[in-house]
Amino acid sequence: MPAPPITIDLPDEAATIALAEALAPLLRAGDIVTLSGLIGAGKTTFARALIRTLAGDRALEVPSPTFTLVQPYGETSIPVAHFDLYRLADGVELDELGFDDAVAEGVALVEWPERAPGRFRGALAVSLVPAGAGAGRIATLDGDASWHERLATTVLR
Ligand SMILES: Nc1ncnc2c1ncn2[C@@H]1O[C@H](COP(=O)(O)OP(=O)(O)OP(=O)(O)O)[C@@H](O)[C@H]1O
Ligand SMILES: [Mg+2]
Repeated sequence: MPAPPITIDLPDEAATIALAEALAPLLRAGDIVTLSGLIGAGKTTFARALIRTLAGDRALEVPSPTFTLVQPYGETSIPVAHFDLYRLADGVELDELGFDDAVAEGVALVEWPERAPGRFRGALAVSLVPAGAGAGRIATLDGDASWHERLATTVLR
């Protein structure tokens, strides 16, 4: 039976950052991490913390790739490409953005994966949803058995 998704309470922004920092060391070239959640859910916050951890630089500028659709990072321990597909026209455009090369060379972080259905098989799927009234989010992490094995090696909560 597949392992159930992992659910983690994120009461504040610091908790979102801490989760991304815990996940970062587990990543290696070829990994795709999708970041789902509505506008303002915290996807870029999560990606920014993850990229800063891999760069070993807590002040690294990590802009939201809302208009560029992809922002590559080479100063990280492994190459990272940060995608925001909210404005993606179609799957062809994803090819033009160099998605396959990004995955071949390093890690792809993908906000709004729903814009290119079927393109992110094998991904670790992170989703962020509001925790009800007031602030806070609930994160759900899901992926195939190999992701669950890797996640089990770290303390995520
Ligand atoms: N666990 C949390 N609890 C409360 N607020 C949070 C939490 N995590 C992040 N935030 C806040 O939520 C906001 C999220 O903005 P962010 O740009 O990261 O969202 P996004 O999901 O990338 O949105 P978009 O779809 O527009 O790209 C930020 O102000 C951040 O401080
Ligand atoms: Mg964003």
